[in-house]
Amino acid sequence: MKINTNFLKLKPSYLFMEIAKRVNKYKEQHPDNKIIRMGIGYVTRPLAPSVVEAMVAGAREQGEASTFRGYDDGGVGYDFLRNAIADYYKDELGASIAADDIFISDGAKSDCGNIGDIFSADNKVMITDPVYTVYLDTNIMAGREIVYINSDGSNGFAAMPPEGKCTADIIYLCSPNNPSGSVYTKAQLKIWLDYAADNNALIIYDSAYEAFITDPDLTRSIYTIEGAENHAIEICSLSKTAGFTGTRLGYTIVPTALKFDSGESVKALWTRRQNSKFNGVSYPIQKAAAAVFTKQGQTEVKQSIRYYLDNAKLIMSALDELNIPYTGGKHSPYVWFKCDGGDSWATFDLLLNEAEVVGTPGAGFGKNGDGWLRLTAFNTRENTAEAMARLKRVLGKQG
Ligand code: MLT
Repeated sequence: MKINTNFLKLKPSYLFMEIAKRVNKYKEQHPDNKIIRMGIGYVTRPLAPSVVEAMVAGAREQGEASTFRGYDDGGVGYDFLRNAIADYYKDELGASIAADDIFISDGAKSDCGNIGDIFSADNKVMITDPVYTVYLDTNIMAGREIVYINSDGSNGFAAMPPEGKCTADIIYLCSPNNPSGSVYTKAQLKIWLDYAADNNALIIYDSAYEAFITDPDLTRSIYTIEGAENHAIEICSLSKTAGFTGTRLGYTIVPTALKFDSGESVKALWTRRQNSKFNGVSYPIQKAAAAVFTKQGQTEVKQSIRYYLDNAKLIMSALDELNIPYTGGKHSPYVWFKCDGGDSWATFDLLLNEAEVVGTPGAGFGKNGDGWLRLTAFNTRENTAEAMARLKRVLGKQG
């Protein structure tokens, strides 16, 4: 039995596990203290009432012979959910998507990794640095060469295509961005799509945070940009949109028009991959997900998004008071701020030990993340306000 040696090239521990280890150690030493977690994007608002109702109704249907459902035909999702998402894209996001180009899964994280199965290990992958670690880790596991491009203070943490010929075949973009909260404008996405078209590359577009965009001039899907269906796959999730972090549901859009260099259909291969390796998300969860896209569901989930964005305002105002530069927070649950002294793990430790607030050190997202720290707006209002009071006390002493 031989090991996949690519795994030996990974950092020994996944970023959020390393953070959990440090936090648990601190907790063991201070069992009675209140730690406020603003590290991993762990939402705190419960599922919306109409979503819970649909989930329960789905479970009841599974308990009756007349309504019982089995496999959803290939693990790609029941039609009722694929249709609901297609309607959401049309009515809410302004993009025309065929329902059968939508593939239901248990979340964006799995799809970001699994999509690599259908691409040769020879493909080079372009990743903006810093970025959600899953793109990097899963491509290292597959043995792919990585090309990094720099997101940093000079470009608002929204890297644009490098000059000259593209050396990559697959490009991962995340907007609103995890971790920096930056958002690509439509014009910037058009530049990326032209770049992909000119260089025969594919964009894998992670839109997991689209629901946090409130400015109608910004796009919530790459498919509102002309021609995107020829060059992009879009991956999304209900984790942050509708509180599905512990419920699990995401979806990936693989347009029929997308082709490999050889002319074969990308969608056909993804379908084949899912048919063989996945039996779908459970029926009650798909029912619950469909409720998110109803009128009532949208009203309810938007209340939670507003709640988190108001938390983000509290974070931004604390940083404004401290005169600390940051990005994100406006169309994103993430606020990404500059660490005094430039070492993000040192700031992480300082906040944990002195404020008992947990953030995510930017260095964990790539070399350009060092010197920055990410806070999430996903805690409760009370905890966010308390955390900001503590942050002001501790960081106000610096400099
Ligand atoms: C994050 O905190 O970056 C996300 O919650 C992690 C994830 O979605 O896997």
